[in-house]
Amino acid sequence: MSGADLVFEPVSAAVGARVSGADLTKPLSEGHRRQIIGGLHRYGMLLFRGQKLSDRDVVRFSAYIGHPEIYALRPEIRVEDCPELVNIANIRDENGRLIGLPESGRQWHSDLQFKAEPSIASALYCVECEAGDTEFSGMAAVYDAMPAPLKQRLAGLKGVNSYVIYNERYGNNARKMTEEQKRQVPDVEHPIVLSHPVSGRKALYVSEGMTARIAGLSPAESDALIQELFAFSTRPEFLYRHVWQVHDLVLWDNRSTMHRALPFDQKYRRHMKRSTIMRQFDDV
Ligand code: SIN
Repeated sequence: MSGADLVFEPVSAAVGARVSGADLTKPLSEGHRRQIIGGLHRYGMLLFRGQKLSDRDVVRFSAYIGHPEIYALRPEIRVEDCPELVNIANIRDENGRLIGLPESGRQWHSDLQFKAEPSIASALYCVECEAGDTEFSGMAAVYDAMPAPLKQRLAGLKGVNSYVIYNERYGNNARKMTEEQKRQVPDVEHPIVLSHPVSGRKALYVSEGMTARIAGLSPAESDALIQELFAFSTRPEFLYRHVWQVHDLVLWDNRSTMHRALPFDQKYRRHMKRSTIMRQFDDV
């Protein structure tokens, strides 16, 4: 593939850019890889349109960013013959079984925020989408815009992130966890303000879905601060709403953005494939 420069066009003021000039069906040149990583750090989210990709293409692309994890929590939603991808889909197979999670990620979150080692990035590929947009918030822009006294209050604080509480609050019976599944995901603390290990840029790292409370504060103080942060981080000026087209691939940085899947009428078909990417390289 040629090393010609990629073009990055911002899709909103706070987060996201559309990338032109890349063909993700082919291996990336080192130059394009570096430009994509630079774009990811700068914009937090990258949109590649019109990419007709096989499962292996999505995995190969993800592997330029880091290590695509094999999703352990719910093996039943893995893409057949491609365990690095999961189906997010409201579609049933010939036996009437749902092929993926139909209701994934309705609340604001950053992927694997509930783990000691969260995901650095995720790639979501659109196979079919009659409805169901995804919304992103640029958490680095959120942090930049915070008043100085609020930034000072956050210094040194940690959020307690909990998949079990997330599932209790927002899951439904279809997603009831077994005791073994709960043991796999103990609550974890992460700094409320993350410094990006490569760009150094600071970003708010709390989300309504995953951050249950703030460590060391009384329940009332924790609740008040957390609600203030949720409200601030979802102000319209920090958001981008992505309306999917078939063959879109969206790559986002989990350390400087959060996202949620917007609800839609389930009479419409939606089939996405996601890779969840773990840190592997020093430059990402
Ligand atoms: C996710 O939260 O990773 C999925 C988002 C979506 O389905 O739009």
